[in-house]
Amino acid sequence: MVRRDGREVPCSKVLVAHRAPSGEVEFFSVIAHDMTERRSLEEQIRQAQKMEAVGRLAGGVAHDFNNLLTAISGYSDFLLRRLGPQHPLRKDAEEIQRAAARAASLTRQLLAFSRRQVLEPKVIDLNLVVTDMEKMLRRLIGEHIELATSLDPALGRVRADRGQIEQVLLNLAVNARDAMPGGGRVTIETRNVDLDAAYARDHVGIEPGAYVLLCVSDTGVGMDDETRLHIFEPFFTTKAGGSGTGLGLSTVYGIVRQSGGSIEVASEPGRGAAFKVYLPRVEGTAAPLAAPKPAGPDLAAGTGTVLVVEDEEIVRSLARRILETAGYRVLEAADPHTALEICDRFAGPIDLLLTDIVMPKMSGRVLAERVAERRPEVRTLFMSAYAEAAVAREAGGEDLAWIEKPFTVDMLTRKVQEVLALAKQR
Ligand SMILES: Nc1ncnc2c1ncn2[C@@H]1O[C@H](COP(=O)(O)OP(=O)(O)OP(=O)(O)O)[C@@H](O)[C@H]1O
Ligand SMILES: [Mg+2]
Repeated sequence: MVRRDGREVPCSKVLVAHRAPSGEVEFFSVIAHDMTERRSLEEQIRQAQKMEAVGRLAGGVAHDFNNLLTAISGYSDFLLRRLGPQHPLRKDAEEIQRAAARAASLTRQLLAFSRRQVLEPKVIDLNLVVTDMEKMLRRLIGEHIELATSLDPALGRVRADRGQIEQVLLNLAVNARDAMPGGGRVTIETRNVDLDAAYARDHVGIEPGAYVLLCVSDTGVGMDDETRLHIFEPFFTTKAGGSGTGLGLSTVYGIVRQSGGSIEVASEPGRGAAFKVYLPRVEGTAAPLAAPKPAGPDLAAGTGTVLVVEDEEIVRSLARRILETAGYRVLEAADPHTALEICDRFAGPIDLLLTDIVMPKMSGRVLAERVAERRPEVRTLFMSAYAEAAVAREAGGEDLAWIEKPFTVDMLTRKVQEVLALAKQR
C-alpha cells in the first residue's frame, strides 16, 4: 500500500462494508495497518536466532581447531628446539609455527564471536580507554582521516574486559578507515543513556535500563540494507581479494553481547555509518591499569608426577611429551573415569592433575573434586579455551589455576612449575 508521502509500506488490511438501514451496501472502507515496525521486529528476531545458531557452530569449530592447533604449534616447537639456527629445515618449521599462530588468532576471533572466550571483566571508565588509545588510532587510520572525540565527562562506569573493549574500538575504527578511502572523519562519542521499555520493545536483545553508549561514526561510503543485515556474520566481507576476513564485526558483536551489551548500526549508502555500542552502566570505581606481568623465572628441571586427563588424544600426547621432556613422570587418562581409577590404583604420590574442563560425561571441575576426595594433596591445573574456565575459576575462587588452549611448550612447562611451586609454599 502507498502512503500519502508516496512511500510504499507493508500493511495488514481489513475490508469493512458499510450498509444502509435497508441492508444494502453503501460503500466499503479499508482499514490498513502499517506493518513496518512489526516486520522489523520479526526481522530482528530472525536475525538474532540466526546469529545464535551460527555462533554455536563457530564455537564448536573453534573448540576442535584449538585442540589441533595446540598440537601443531606444540610439535613444531619441539622441532625448532632440535633444529639448530643453521639447519636447512629450520625455515620450514618456522613457517608451520607462523601458520599455526595465524590460525590460532582466527580461532580466537571465532571464539569471541561465539561468546565463549575467557573474559576478565573489571569496572572500567570507557573515556580512559578511548583517550589511551587515541594516539594509536590516529596513527592507524592515517592522516587523510580526521579523528574527533566527544566524551561525556560525567560518564558512568561499565563492567567489561578492557583488552576486549580496545579490540572493539580498533575493529570499528579500522572499518571506518576502510570506508573512507578518500578521507573523511571518524567520531568517537561516549555518553550516558537510559533506555526505556518502549525502546526495549522495538529492539531485540536489550533490556530497559541505564547504559553507557559508545558510538563510532564515520563519513564514509555507508552501506545498503542488504549489507547491513549481514555485517555481523562471521566471514561476511565486501572487501575484495582477501583483504578482509569478515571477522572484525563478528568479534565486536561477540564481545559486546558477552559483556551484557548490545550493538546497533545505522547507515545509508553514501551517508556514512554509525555503530552504537550499549553497555550496562554499573556502580563502582574503575580499577587501575594492571601492571604488566614480570617474565617468569628460568625453568628448572621438573620433579613429580602429573596425571593428564584429556579426551583429545592429540592434545594428551602433546602434554605428555612436553611434561616428560621437562622431567615429570606422566600418567595419562582419556576420560575422568579412567583418571579416578588411576588415582585409586597408582601406588606413588600424584602431585598435579592437569585436566581439560569440557569433557563428555564428567566435567573437569567435578573430576577435580572427586580426585581431591581421594588424594587431598593433589593440585589441579585446568586447560581450556572456553569461558567455562573463567566460570570454574569464579566458583572456586582465585585459587584455581588454568591454562588457555592453544598453549605452547613453554607456557605449559612454566604453568605446571608455577602451580607446583605454589603448592610447596603452603
Ligand atoms: N564503517 C563502515 N562503513 C561501511 N561498511 C562497513 C563499515 N564497517 C563494516 N562495513 C561492512 O561490513 C563488512 C564486514 O565488516 P568486518 O569488520 O566484519 O569485516 P571486514 O572489515 O570486511 O574484514 P576484517 O575486519 O576481518 O578484516 C565490511 O566488509 C563492510 O562491507
Ligand atoms: Mg573489519
